[in-house]
Amino acid sequence: MPRCLVRGSIIKDFVRPGQTISSTELVKRLGGKGANQSVAIARAGGVVDFVGAIGSDGVGVRDDLKNAGVNVDQTRLVEESTGRAIIQVNAAGENSIILFKGANYASITPPPIHPDTTYMVFQNEVPLASTIEFLTLATASNIATVFNPSPMPTPDELRSFPFDKLTWLVVNEGEVSELCEALDVAVKTEGRDLVEDARKLVLGLAGRLPSTNIICTLGADGVLAKFRVSDDCVHLPAAKLQGPPLDTTGAGDCFTGYMVAGLMQLEEHGASEHIAVLQRAIQAAGMCVERAGAASSIPLSAEVESRLR
Ligand code: ADP
Ligand code: NA
Repeated sequence: MPRCLVRGSIIKDFVRPGQTISSTELVKRLGGKGANQSVAIARAGGVVDFVGAIGSDGVGVRDDLKNAGVNVDQTRLVEESTGRAIIQVNAAGENSIILFKGANYASITPPPIHPDTTYMVFQNEVPLASTIEFLTLATASNIATVFNPSPMPTPDELRSFPFDKLTWLVVNEGEVSELCEALDVAVKTEGRDLVEDARKLVLGLAGRLPSTNIICTLGADGVLAKFRVSDDCVHLPAAKLQGPPLDTTGAGDCFTGYMVAGLMQLEEHGASEHIAVLQRAIQAAGMCVERAGAASSIPLSAEVESRLR
């Protein structure tokens, strides 16, 4: 079985839903983009090794991650306290987050890489130097790489980032715009149509990063995909929800995890196979939005399949 290594963050989330002022409503749960994407890969049927760090107060969230089917043997126990986030979800399902990095910023030496590893996945909630170290290891071993630069690195960090080592870049509409600005990619957007503006930004960025596949998520407007083998940018609409959007927390991570698991399972790498993988990831992300919670709202692959039929 192909394996995926996620070098990323794990946090203890403290969530306060909107429409409530009672502190008894505070929900503690597993979070962090690295952990969430790992859970999504596992629920999608992929074999995943999570490489990150917790403090002694994080044994519970590490167990949660393990119970979700993620291999946590390379999750280190360090002196610092576990990373934390306080998430406020409003009535429209949008969220705002305050993040404490904690153990996620502890330095970690890379573990021996399992020989079956075909993908490595990164976000930006651990030191960027560590991401680059693992990225370099991946490229040396012919392992495909996926980077979701969230939260955005600084413009200086972006200018020196080794984008040539990236197989896949996953961004949202705000991130693609920041990337273009930092990398001096001049794009004129009109501010009328989100999808058209994002398409221009993605195509502009693709000109600068010719060896990278670029995926741009657009919330309720779906996804844009610019494959390196093709000159144009494909727009895929979002999934039809069965109710109102309840909680968008983790939808992007659910999408990225499902995308990675789908790519790992591909035997051929043509554009049409890639589109089918993205459509499954879009359906999974839509289901994540229909439910409260982040990691806990990531659907199982059988549930996703039944909605695609
Ligand atoms: P991020 O939180 O990383 O910015 P997005 O908001 O773009 O990510 O969401 C990721 C994906 O989740 C979208 O591409 C879409 O497929 C799905 N999604 C997000 N919001 C909605 C929504 N309101 N309705 C349907 N799908 C959604
Ligand atoms: Na959710």
